[in-house]
Amino acid sequence: MAPTKTILRALAGETLPTPPIWMMRQAGRYLPEYRATRAEAGDFLSLCYNPELAAEVTLQPIRRYGFDAAILFADILLLPQALGADLWFVTGEGPRLSTITTQADFDKLKPVEEIDATLNPIYETVRILRCELPPETTLIGFAGAPWTVATYMIAGRGTPDQGPAHALKDENRALFEALLARITAGTIAYLSKQIEAGAEVVKIFDSWAGSLKGEDFQKYAIAPAREITAALKAQHPDIPVIGFPREAGDGYIGFAKTTGVDCVALDNSVSADWAASNVQVDGCVQGNLASSHMVTGGQALVDEARAIVKAFSGGPHIFNLGHGITPDADPDNVQRMIDAVRGP
Ligand code: CP3
Repeated sequence: MAPTKTILRALAGETLPTPPIWMMRQAGRYLPEYRATRAEAGDFLSLCYNPELAAEVTLQPIRRYGFDAAILFADILLLPQALGADLWFVTGEGPRLSTITTQADFDKLKPVEEIDATLNPIYETVRILRCELPPETTLIGFAGAPWTVATYMIAGRGTPDQGPAHALKDENRALFEALLARITAGTIAYLSKQIEAGAEVVKIFDSWAGSLKGEDFQKYAIAPAREITAALKAQHPDIPVIGFPREAGDGYIGFAKTTGVDCVALDNSVSADWAASNVQVDGCVQGNLASSHMVTGGQALVDEARAIVKAFSGGPHIFNLGHGITPDADPDNVQRMIDAVRGP
């Protein structure tokens, strides 16, 4: 049956008169209602593992703005935690994890069969959302791509250049590849369970794909994305997959074809005109307004949003930011962006 929800139609390759719209990190600290619910939960991880409250924050931006999609409220680092890594968040700094640099560290990880013991609350959030979302709103599940998740598991934190992960790759390739294989298998199991619980689309976030060059990009960004996509589609033939190889540059060219994803999410380092001729030729694209416009607003926001809509108007397009909205964004600018995209 042909899909009726706008996001699913765009993902199926349809060119729509107005692109459907959602925003990375749309449930987040720029919204006062999010900050209130997070305070009620106690901290970020308690919020992720509380299905009622995680569903509530997922719904907040849908109520406020009527986005065409809701993204499950969770985090890409919950999978490492389910695999046995310690995980905590330092306020104002970001995530911290126990590190994996030796075979002994790797051997302590749990098998993929055990992840659901930790991740069951996430599937429950998905089930709640499928009951509570408006019928026209699409529910997106997600996970981190293996390389990006590995960069955090190896370094134990976010890193500007992913240095520790590159070092492990060069010094102990067997261990690096074993870790990537474990994350890949865990990601397939995790996303499959999200789909069974009711996720209608899944997105794979490869936030640090840009630091993989040449053959490394083929082996550690493209190959895992292809393996995950193929495994998911073998189990759930109709599930659309969005890939986000952030800052891949020329690596965006052909990414949909080589990985089998239905849509390529674009960061704002590539121009919409370039991406229309080089990436959208293969199918749906998502993006790519700079998140800084959500802070600065004004006519530049409106002009840039309209230019992106125009550049992608010849093919399937889902409007989004180039990366997550930041805590200092003005909630009114989000409405201005939506008005600019949807028109008067
Ligand atoms: O987009 C959404 O609204 C859905 C939920 C979501 C979160 N994180 C919630 C979150 C999604 C899809 C993510 C993905 C994620 N998490 C990525 C990939 C996308 C990207 O941003 O590149 C990465 C790298 C992470 C890991 C992570 N989580 C970091 C580095 C941080 C700290 C940085 C920051 O923004 O504070 C987080 C925390 C986090 N994840 C927050 C939210 C709303 C902020 C936590 C808080 O409330 O304090």
